Order: sequence, then structure tokens, then C-alpha cells
Amino acid sequence: TGALESALTAFRAGDPVLVHDADDREGETDLLYPASAVTPDAVARMRNDGGGLIFVAFTDAVADRFDLPFLHETLDHPANDHSDLGYDAHPSFSLTVNHRDGFTGVTDDDRALTIRRLGEVSADDSYGVDAFAEEFRTPGHVHLLRAAPGLLTDRRGHTELGLALAHEAGVGPAVAGCEMLDDDTGGALSTADARAYARQHDLPFVEGAALIRALA
Ligand code: 5RP
Ligand code: ZN
Ligand code: CA
Ligand code: ZN
Repeated sequence: TGALESALTAFRAGDPVLVHDADDREGETDLLYPASAVTPDAVARMRNDGGGLIFVAFTDAVADRFDLPFLHETLDHPANDHSDLGYDAHPSFSLTVNHRDGFTGVTDDDRALTIRRLGEVSADDSYGVDAFAEEFRTPGHVHLLRAAPGLLTDRRGHTELGLALAHEAGVGPAVAGCEMLDDDTGGALSTADARAYARQHDLPFVEGAALIRALA
């Protein structure tokens, strides 16, 4: 489709894309970037225009290489129960990290450094858990997410939608993003308003269903 082609072109240029999952899932639109392309301005855009949680999603292969678990598989706490999660079997949350060269880790500069380096090292097959631990510490201010092994055949969250798009674009196995919230209501930004934002800023808007049709 035209929207998919525009999204691939944007990712190859390091520009963001808006991806809506599905009305019968979260019903959210995320602002997504190839992680290696994230700058301090991109972090500012995610927190100002997005307003949700800023994350970096990795493929299963990269998460294995960095020894990043699903958090829900490692926590021994009674709150670690997802049976009442309304829209999926489990969350894709893994660790949170900061780059060691940052200071607090939360500033636009610090988060951009963390995210950009996560993007770069995700593409380096020789970079393993020891190198990762030398460069990053946990806990930190960037949420890492771990995709399902078969991407869109296993799960259809923004985690897998973003990584399938990145794979098709050839931009590496790490995607950064943030949910778009509505500043007036505090709720998820409506699809109509997310499309309007995309038009205003000349960004591609892609429906999850279109990505699944083309890439699953
Ligand atoms: C982490 C989230 C977001 O919804 C993000 O889009 C990734 O989650 P999912 O793959 O479940 O859509 O909860 O900020
Ligand atoms: Zn979510
Ligand atoms: Ca805002
Ligand atoms: Zn999501």
C-alpha cells in the first residue's frame, strides 16, 4: 500500500512513523523510530507529542544476545499476575536501562544516547551481554521490550508491528517509540486525531492490519 511504502521510506531516512495497533486491542497509536536514528529532538517529540512511556523494542534474537528476560518471567512478587490483562497474554516488558555515560539518564540528551547506542549495538552480532553490561546499567530510564519470537505470527503489539516494519525497511532489529496520548483528555489519542497529527507533520500513518497483511 502507499502508506506502507511511505513508512518504509521514512524509517530508511531515520524519520518517525505512526502505527495504530487495532481497535480491538490497545487501540493506541505509537510514534516509532528506528532506535539508531533517535536524537535528543526525537526524545523531546516523543515526550511532548507522544506523552506515553518511551521504550526500545528488540527482536527475540537480540534480546537473547543481550540476555534480556521478559520481566514477568523473572519477578517473584504476588503482583506479577497478568490473568486480568484485557488485551494480551502478557506484556513485552524487559529491563530498564541507562547508558553509563549519561548522568541521571532521564534528560533528552541522556535518553537519546541510551536509545541511539541500543540501536547501534543491536545491529552488531559480535556485541554480547558482557559488552552490554559494560555500556549500560539497570535499572534506568529507558524501558526495554522483548518481541515474540515469530513477530506478527505470535503477537500483534506495537513491539512486533514496529520490528516487522524495521525488518522490512532494513534498518536493524531495534525500534524506539512512545504512545500518543491526548493532552485534553489524558486518554489514548483517537485514531482520527493521530491521523491529523500525521498529516500536519507530514509523517506516515500505518494501520496494524495493513502491516499484518503485508508482512505477517
Ligand atoms: C509499552 C507499551 C506500549 O503499548 C508499546 O506499544 C508496546 O507494547 P505492545 O507491544 O503491547 O503494544 O505498553 O510502553
Ligand atoms: Zn501499552
Ligand atoms: Ca503533550
Ligand atoms: Zn502498544
